Amino acid sequence: MRRLYIKTFGCQMNEYDSERIAELLAQSHGLEWVEDPALADLLILNTCSIREKAEDKVYTQLGFWRPYKEREPAPLIAVGGCVASQEGERLRRRVPFVDIVFGPQTLHRLPDLIDARLAEAAPQVDLAFPELEKFDRLPQRPGRHGPSAFVTVQEGCDKFCTFCVVPHTRGREYSRPVPDIVREVRQLLDQGVREITLLGQNVNAYRGASGLVGELGFADLLRRLARLPGLMRLRYTTSHPNNLDEDLIAAHGELAVLAPHLHLPVQSGSDRILRRMHRKHDVATYLQKIQALRQVRPEIRFSSDFIVGFPGESDADFAATMDLIEAVRFDQSYSFKYSPRPNTPALKLKDTVPEPVKEERLAILQGRINQLAQEYSRALVGTVQEVLVTGPSRRSAEEWTGKTPCNRSVNFPGPAGLTGQMVAVEITEALPNSLRGRFLPLRAVS
Ligand code: 5AD
Ligand code: SF4
Repeated sequence: MRRLYIKTFGCQMNEYDSERIAELLAQSHGLEWVEDPALADLLILNTCSIREKAEDKVYTQLGFWRPYKEREPAPLIAVGGCVASQEGERLRRRVPFVDIVFGPQTLHRLPDLIDARLAEAAPQVDLAFPELEKFDRLPQRPGRHGPSAFVTVQEGCDKFCTFCVVPHTRGREYSRPVPDIVREVRQLLDQGVREITLLGQNVNAYRGASGLVGELGFADLLRRLARLPGLMRLRYTTSHPNNLDEDLIAAHGELAVLAPHLHLPVQSGSDRILRRMHRKHDVATYLQKIQALRQVRPEIRFSSDFIVGFPGESDADFAATMDLIEAVRFDQSYSFKYSPRPNTPALKLKDTVPEPVKEERLAILQGRINQLAQEYSRALVGTVQEVLVTGPSRRSAEEWTGKTPCNRSVNFPGPAGLTGQMVAVEITEALPNSLRGRFLPLRAVS
């Protein structure tokens, strides 16, 4: 076996897992990641089950891969991630040509599963939740990174929102120990990474062993990482409002490297629906926290996740969500129609919202969010932004692409060698999905 192809569905945590899988298999089996599945000796599908049709998407993708199995020698096919965790043996029964099924917590066992499959010729399934083990068993990270990298610091969820499959697929909350995270971030910084995004299903619920003084909470982890030389920008996603405590709010005021942008999913602006979702927070507390953050960091911007058409959502409930959007003036957010997920308590709620109503509400909500995002982009025109250059732009060899502190993409012409630098760019134009700017060499910030 020489070549590996990985297809990833879903969130940034899955992308991180796929990267770590590739690093692991490069070390254990000398596999090289290729972009063409037809060339691969091992195909991995890293799946996500958060929303509607996730399972169908997996079965369709496996259908596309089926003809590869006719090749001599046939490649191995492995399915990992949340759908694997949720479907388990059923997946193996429905798609008998799958060789390996592994969960989000057993990806480190892939080398052994591959060897076992090759030796014993029986398909391998490993869907355990052995906390701790996964990160301990992954190799150090080799240098293959751009200026921006993800680091998973926390996994799983104990909140059990009634719509959400995550606690059932990723398991309970688990935080990596502080020294492990510091080591990984240091390595990435040594390799030229300048922006780190900390990941977790509930990243701000982080509580990790410090090695010295008991456990550290999330704000202290941020303080610890902010001290590392070379780090220019720190972000994190995704947060739960209940874990946004006073200490974390204070950290946003203290730490200049912390980007002035926070993804803080609220899901709904109606207290009645929030209760049915079992979110354990109400609109007023959410707004108080937003206000407190604005007090310590006036330029901070917020994005959110929204679900429309949750069972029982009335016109008034939906109007309350739109009111909340006006109150916060959210930036680019993610919004979804509610979809029933396996094993979740919301399945039992009967008063479903008709599909056309869900669609109408989604269109209204997305329309307003896009307007707000555009308004903000236009307000940036004429300002000078600190832009972290992520690489050459896809459009033109003489242009660069970078990110503003609030995570907008900016394209601008500039001299050679800017990748990884933090530069000053005057914003000249707001396009629907990006900004254009003018490089200000004399104002370069690094
Ligand atoms: N239906 C629709 N959206 C969902 N999400 C999670 N579960 C569901 C579901 N059953 C959305 C939430 C969450 C985001 C990651 O996905 O908004 O914050
Ligand atoms: Fe799912 Fe709620 Fe946990 Fe987020 S907080 S992962 S929405 S159960």
